[in-house]
Amino acid sequence: MTKRFLRVLRGESLSPPPVWLMRQAGRYLPEYLETRARSKNFLDFCYSPDLALEVTLQPLRRYNFDAAILFSDILVVPDALGQKVEFVQGHGPKLEPIATRSALETVLNTQGFHAHLQPVYEAIRRIAREIPKTTALIGFAGAPWTVATYMVEGQGSKDYAQVRSLAYQDDDFFQRLIDMLVDVTASYLIEQVNNGAQALQVFDSWAGVLSENQFIRWAIEPMARIVERIKAVHPSVPVIGFPRGAGVLYKRYVQETGIDAVSLDHSMPLTWARDNIQPFAAVQGNLDNLLLVAGGEAMETQARKIIEVLGEGPFIFNLGHGIVPQTPPQNVARLCEIIREKV
Ligand code: CP3
Repeated sequence: MTKRFLRVLRGESLSPPPVWLMRQAGRYLPEYLETRARSKNFLDFCYSPDLALEVTLQPLRRYNFDAAILFSDILVVPDALGQKVEFVQGHGPKLEPIATRSALETVLNTQGFHAHLQPVYEAIRRIAREIPKTTALIGFAGAPWTVATYMVEGQGSKDYAQVRSLAYQDDDFFQRLIDMLVDVTASYLIEQVNNGAQALQVFDSWAGVLSENQFIRWAIEPMARIVERIKAVHPSVPVIGFPRGAGVLYKRYVQETGIDAVSLDHSMPLTWARDNIQPFAAVQGNLDNLLLVAGGEAMETQARKIIEVLGEGPFIFNLGHGIVPQTPPQNVARLCEIIREKV
């Protein structure tokens, strides 16, 4: 097997480390903005295999990353379940909130789920054919908790107080919602592999707002069930978890979910991660996305530091969270040079 990204996910340590960046396709690239302008609506854009293929390839052409990530969004899952989902310019996602048992039962429907997502599967088949032989293709989904936050709150939030309260107050409702999401998310990810995805990442971007008990119940347990379902069908496909903001609970997350690798957010201390996480799983991360905006010495020093501490074990270079739109593309090019030691 020659794909360096997959070799690390299976436990090898490689120097230089493989690299890809979360949100590597996106608004910091002028060619993305140009392609994006061809669709009015962001979901139509995601469901257009031609455009999804094109924007997935754009960052590979510039930076030759070791992995491509399918261009789509985590909110195609509630959309495919029949919830109204929109992306409002300058505001982010807007959903018709689901906060009662009757809404859950009348609005959400798993019947047409895979039919609705056919354009995503087609995009995956085409990306798998078009990417270089040394590049791996990552499929992805949002974790049940993070997707549920948008489904219940109807939009992004600072502290997710509504959904966290609801999870405390109506355990039965919330468990049903999470169970449904475990089910469709596992089957969505399996279908992505059936169509050509070679590794999977599950984004739990809002895991960090959960209390310890809620984290175990709504982040660890659902993820363990998803991983078990995937491995039953595709035992050798590596799964990466990203419980952003989990702090010391990263350790339990890794030990109890069965994932092969974990993506570290920028707040994770490097030596702690080396000693407590890397013995159990490959690690990915964790340059602050705002250091990539800043560039220069500060970025270069920290990038080298990350590689020095984590590079002895199984390690994939990435950011602590996705690239932000104000990132200068030349900083990404410079970062790649440093990682690949062409300094
Ligand atoms: O290159 C890639 O990483 C693949 C594409 C990708 C997108 N979203 C494209 C996108 C991936 C992996 C995601 C995941 C995603 N989407 C997450 C989890 C990861 C994370 O960043 O925490 C979350 C929470 C979402 C939900 C979402 N999608 C929000 C909150 C927003 C609006 C905020 C924003 O950044 O604009 C989106 C829109 C979105 N998804 C854009 C892109 C490129 C920008 C929309 C546009 O181009 O008009």
